[in-house]
Amino acid sequence: MAARVFSGIQPTGTLHIGNYFGAIRNWAALQAQRDCVYCIVDYHAITIDVDPQALRKASRSMALDLVACGIDPDRSILFVQSAVPEHAELAWILGCVTSYGDLTRMTQFKDKSASNAFVSAGLFNYPVLQAADILLYRATGVPVGEDQVQHLELSRRIARRFNSRFGEYFPEPEPIVGKGARIMSLSDPTQKMSKSAGEAHYIGVMEDEASIQRKVRSAVTDTGLTPGEEMSPGVANLFEILELSADPDTVSALRGEFESGTLMYSRLKDAVFEHLMAVLRPIQARRAKLEAEGAIEGILTDGAKKACAIARETMADVRRMAGLA
Ligand code: TYM
Repeated sequence: MAARVFSGIQPTGTLHIGNYFGAIRNWAALQAQRDCVYCIVDYHAITIDVDPQALRKASRSMALDLVACGIDPDRSILFVQSAVPEHAELAWILGCVTSYGDLTRMTQFKDKSASNAFVSAGLFNYPVLQAADILLYRATGVPVGEDQVQHLELSRRIARRFNSRFGEYFPEPEPIVGKGARIMSLSDPTQKMSKSAGEAHYIGVMEDEASIQRKVRSAVTDTGLTPGEEMSPGVANLFEILELSADPDTVSALRGEFESGTLMYSRLKDAVFEHLMAVLRPIQARRAKLEAEGAIEGILTDGAKKACAIARETMADVRRMAGLA
């Protein structure tokens, strides 16, 4: 069996540069070497309260974003999770080989349950559904940012427990974590960049240029360091974004200035803005074109068909192994 890659993204909220550099850019690069399956995880999105109309729209919008970022529907399977209900069925079965104690130790659950008044069982079981997503396609590689590594460890544990109870079947999926796996918030660089923290914290991939410039200019840095002192988190984050978008010469020239204590942060910010826009502008233009073409429904229907074909085969095996009808 060809080594398959699987990954997913929640449709709610704006696609930000943390998602792009931490995951989506790697998703696109992997298409050259592997069979790739990419999923917009709307079942995961309903673990918290979301408006149904907004959710349906957000899933389509995320599909446009992903294709604009280079996910090629001719090479990869791109689909919306709920179009393949086998995800939910496998999640139930895997839930029966998942330890309750393991789920209580998931840091994302702890964080999210602390900030929501109503904590659903769905939110608690979220990592089981994530394991089901991956294992349904018997994927071995999962390109993600650093915040998903703990969920991936649990997915491997769940695969092992299934295999030891019902027979060797699922490969253990490994995270593929590249550069940019942890982009920090611009206004609080001690926290990761996320869509839930609020507008000032992230840069949207599709955000307009003036707004991006404003956010980069007001990014938190420090009030100046003496030469040799360690970079503050805000400056390190700006360098990280620069490294992900600019050529090595530009980065090393500015790093040299930092080391000799002559770097003006306004110059660093201008360079970040300029190089980041050179990455984002073509993506934004592709998205506008794709939206005008109106082909996204067809792409998702086709993707769901291909995903369903694989999912059905897996579920036939799993049902048989587990003694289900
Ligand atoms: P989600 O939707 O929060 O994020 C999508 C991807 O973006 C990465 N990411 C980041 N990378 C670097 N810096 C950041 N600040 C940053 N913020 C987010 C995430 O690590 C992720 O790779 N639970 C998953 C979705 C999911 C999934 C799966 C992933 C569901 N099933 C199966 C892999 C395999 C999530 O909420 O990602």
